[in-house]
Amino acid sequence: MPDNKYRFPLFLAALALASSVFADDDPRHERHELMESVGEAAKPVGEMLKGEAEFDADTLLQSLNVWKDVGGQFGGLFPEGSETGMGTEAAPAIWEDRAGFEKALAKWQAAVDGAIEAGPDSLEAAKPVIGPVFEACKGCHDNYRIAEE
Ligand code: HEC
Repeated sequence: MPDNKYRFPLFLAALALASSVFADDDPRHERHELMESVGEAAKPVGEMLKGEAEFDADTLLQSLNVWKDVGGQFGGLFPEGSETGMGTEAAPAIWEDRAGFEKALAKWQAAVDGAIEAGPDSLEAAKPVIGPVFEACKGCHDNYRIAEE
């Protein structure tokens, strides 16, 4: 079986990938990682909005897709028992007012969907659809994130 020597490394790689997903599946870790990627995706968009970078529709869409992806997963990462520990910045309000948290999340998702649908092709077109996305970030952080500054 000559092609075994090709299959085996592939199998190992798949295994490594799977275990890196499952070994560290503590929701406190996962939501931190997800929000970090959300923050990373915000950087190029912020630079465009401030005129520090050229407007680029593809970069914007990439960030929007990261946010859409995270938006779909984020709400499931706050189970009972994950309120504290591991340096979480999740505020107790998430557990005390789950409906409000879900609403803040839904608002963000709607803003992200709206921006994707609008498909802005210029900075002027992007501003009015990205504004509500960032407002929704802040809207959730104000109530549901403990800022460490
Ligand atoms: C529905 C609520 C919600 C929305 C919307 C939201 N965040 Fe967050 N964010 C959180 C919570 C909760 C944390 C703390 C996560 C934790 O530590 O478990 C957080 C943490 C962060 C962090 C710190 C990541 C880290 O190192 O832990 C960054 C950066 C961040 N958010 C950026 C953003 C940006 C940018 C947006 C919008 C594009 C956004 N967030 C939208 C709730 C939200």
